[in-house]
Amino acid sequence: MTHDGGSRRPNAGRIYNYLLGGKDNYADERQAVDQLLAVVPDARAAAQANRRFVGRAVRFLARDAGIGQFIDIGAGLPAAGNVHQFAREQDPLAGVVYVDNDPVVVSHARALLCTAPGVCAFEGDLRDPPGILSHPDVRAVIDLGAPVAIVLGAVLHFIPDEDSPYKLVDLLTAAVAPGSYLVISHATDQDIGADAAGQVRELYAQANAPAVFRSRSEVAGFFEGLELVPPGIGNVAAWNADLPSAPGRTIVVGGVGRKP
Ligand SMILES: C[S@@+](CC[C@H](N)C(=O)[O-])C[C@H]1O[C@@H](n2cnc3c(N)ncnc32)[C@H](O)[C@@H]1O
Repeated sequence: MTHDGGSRRPNAGRIYNYLLGGKDNYADERQAVDQLLAVVPDARAAAQANRRFVGRAVRFLARDAGIGQFIDIGAGLPAAGNVHQFAREQDPLAGVVYVDNDPVVVSHARALLCTAPGVCAFEGDLRDPPGILSHPDVRAVIDLGAPVAIVLGAVLHFIPDEDSPYKLVDLLTAAVAPGSYLVISHATDQDIGADAAGQVRELYAQANAPAVFRSRSEVAGFFEGLELVPPGIGNVAAWNADLPSAPGRTIVVGGVGRKP
């Protein structure tokens, strides 16, 4: 029996929420996380490292690259350190649009994040870039004639190859002005091994989105035609991070690229 008495698949966004220590999840997701941690004990640390990476990337873009507008696709449930908070530390008027294909995520984001002009959220799908870019909220908050950052944090690994993820990213980057940036983080099976990766895929096959691991070089492919910001693509835990010790296993890789 599910929380609502009906049949419901564990939700990928709420699995991540529980991994991050959030409260917007149900028994189905908590059970899925227990199973995930049995296979990948450092999955929680990887989720936290991913969240911190997105924050560092946004802070870098707002502070060092002069970016004042952000489209965060696959934004997730509000958690500690949301994109507009990092962006607005630097520029109190930074425009931020949160997009997610989960209506529950969007209603939480509207209630908790869209509390000031220039920050909004709507339901949209990464598999439909024209639908996102032509949405009235994007048109109202984002000037597509000026540089913008597109943030794809931990979302492309829910897009299988048959949905043409590289073409989707190309459509997004083609539509934005030169000087725009792309932020990506993505699960990889580089260090967890084929057996564990297979078990994680099986687990997410029961959820509402599939888990698609890609290698570091496959993730690099998303940045084709862009200039990579140093240190390039690698373990998100180490990206421009001041770490006291070596990062753990590479479970999420990511980077930032600039459109020339
Ligand atoms: C793991 S969370 C990542 C949250 C945040 N971006 C971060 O990195 O901390 C992934 C989010 O992507 C959303 N998502 C999955 N597939 C999507 C799609 N095709 N279009 C838009 N959002 C999607 C899920 O609903 C979930 O909220």
